[in-house]
Amino acid sequence: MFITFEGPEGGGKSTQIKLLSEVLQTLGHQITQTREPGGTVTGNKIRQIVLEDVELHIEPLTEFLLYSASRAQLVREVIRPALQEGHVVLCDRYFDSSLAYQGFGRGLDLRFLQDVTWEATGGLRPHLTFLLDLQPRIGLERAASRGQFDRLEQADLQFHERVREGFLNLAAAEPERFYVIDATRSAEAIHQEIVQVVKSTLIFKH
Ligand code: TYD
Repeated sequence: MFITFEGPEGGGKSTQIKLLSEVLQTLGHQITQTREPGGTVTGNKIRQIVLEDVELHIEPLTEFLLYSASRAQLVREVIRPALQEGHVVLCDRYFDSSLAYQGFGRGLDLRFLQDVTWEATGGLRPHLTFLLDLQPRIGLERAASRGQFDRLEQADLQFHERVREGFLNLAAAEPERFYVIDATRSAEAIHQEIVQVVKSTLIFKH
């Protein structure tokens, strides 16, 4: 089973992935935990280009292609092999982030993004996607208090509003894949909800 975590900055994705991973391991599942951009040696080099240099000017199209390149590598090197071995794969961001950030946020054509994404992923879609939704203003304050202000987080609030709306649109278009969570609730409450959904989905799929 392939589960992704999506949403605006500061929604607590990494905390939730860690907590879910622990529970699933206790239940006897083998877990592969990864993230985008990154998750492979090549992907981490791409991550350095897109996220770490705040001074770097990157065109939206270039940015999208770099994320897609990281994704192509991750799917082939990590995600598919792990799924074939029967692992539950937990991924911090996947192609929905490109659709929300580069599509809805930067205004690139969604059909084009979907076509490239199809090639990059070989058509591999998550079975379940958690959208940790919150107002960008709150999320950015949270991210800033962690001292993690990367290049994208410095972009204006309106951009982040478009990204959030984008995610909500994607979720509404695919209700059978997405599960939307109010990320302003406590980490523990969110965790319990996620565990319930994952457990029922695992039972349903097997
Ligand atoms: P992430 O590492 O999840 O950081 P955070 O914890 O701050 O959310 O995401 C890194 C950034 O990369 C985030 O600002 C979203 C952006 N991103 C895109 O714009 N497009 C993409 O396809 C992906 C995967 C990430």
